[in-house]
Amino acid sequence: MKALILVGGFGTRLRPLTLSFPKPLVDFANKPMILHQIEALKAIGVTEVVLAINYQPEVMLNFLKDFEEKLGIKITCSQETEPLGTAGPLALARDKLIDESGEPFFVLNSDVISEYPLKEMIEFHKSHGGEASIMVTKVDEPSKYGVVVTEEATGQVEKFVEKPKLFVGNKINAGIYLLNPSVLDRIELRPTSIEKEVFPKIAAEKKLYAMVLPGFWMDIGQPRDYITGLRLYLDSLKKRSSPKLASGTHIVGNVIVDETAKIGEGCLIGPDVAIGPGCIVEAGVRLSRCTVMRGARIKKHACISSSIIGWHSTVGQWARVENMTILGEDVHVCDEIYSNGGVVLPHKEIKSNILKPEIVM
Ligand code: GDD
Ligand code: MG
Repeated sequence: MKALILVGGFGTRLRPLTLSFPKPLVDFANKPMILHQIEALKAIGVTEVVLAINYQPEVMLNFLKDFEEKLGIKITCSQETEPLGTAGPLALARDKLIDESGEPFFVLNSDVISEYPLKEMIEFHKSHGGEASIMVTKVDEPSKYGVVVTEEATGQVEKFVEKPKLFVGNKINAGIYLLNPSVLDRIELRPTSIEKEVFPKIAAEKKLYAMVLPGFWMDIGQPRDYITGLRLYLDSLKKRSSPKLASGTHIVGNVIVDETAKIGEGCLIGPDVAIGPGCIVEAGVRLSRCTVMRGARIKKHACISSSIIGWHSTVGQWARVENMTILGEDVHVCDEIYSNGGVVLPHKEIKSNILKPEIVM
């Protein structure tokens, strides 16, 4: 079975992290976002993943080469010379997606996180006999997404409206599809949107079905949602009694700590914290609702909440970093500094307090 991940887009909403890496390679819960998806695909028997990409394919492929071997899955790129939207890339990768088996294939948006119930989705797809299946989930603010109206009993999609201005329903497209090869016959090789041009037509022919996604879901393409997504992800580990969760008297709530990270004496960590590989957290540090990425160092008695600390950054002793502060790669926050919502570009040194949310260039 094959899968395509839509990896295009510049990830502007997740700057400054995406100034160092393409969005799918930004760490989430201690590993690149896209690895969560590739591992889930591998687990249900997908043998080849096609990355539909419109810039910097080398960065991506170099990085994933290691995992190709480790996971035993083929990873290839299909590169656009102009952005083809969310459907055009499928037409471009047509030959990679179709084989003699005639099997359906998965398509995933690269910035969504969930428990990826892909096995259940295959069962669902087989059971309805339509042409395409999409996963849907309920959200509070449906207007930011593609809204899907279904017939309750069967899941048959009556209407698909991308980013509706008026309320049509609260079930939205979760960005996880299982498509028969025949869907490719509906897509021309040009910039085109699967949400606006393809799904509404399949729905009108009553061949599009929606499955309600069990468990949590989040589009983690912007900082606030990224932090919420981490909470939901850790919560789902907790529900499954995952051994990945840290324990100890210095831990509060759900926390993951990479095995190569070092934690000093007298820290208090959690809830909803991820500490990545090679991180050093010195004595007496307080961390809550935050991500500390690979190679970062948090010095004595620093206090960090609701923030993201980028790769190889340092936070000085007695510093206080909070309220959606996002440090890019290799940022240095000096001792005793206060950051209230500072968004700091890579390689900067912060020597004076950031008193209100602002971008530091
Ligand atoms: N290859 C390629 N080329 N990929 C692209 C392009 C392109 O030109 N444009 C967007 N993508 C990829 C993005 O990287 C992302 O993985 C996916 O397509 C969706 O694009 P977003 O820009 O993240 O769209 P969105 O979040 O506003 O809306 C989409 O996702 C929602 C769920 O998070 C839609 O699919 C909505 O219907 C859906 O509800
Ligand atoms: Mg998105």
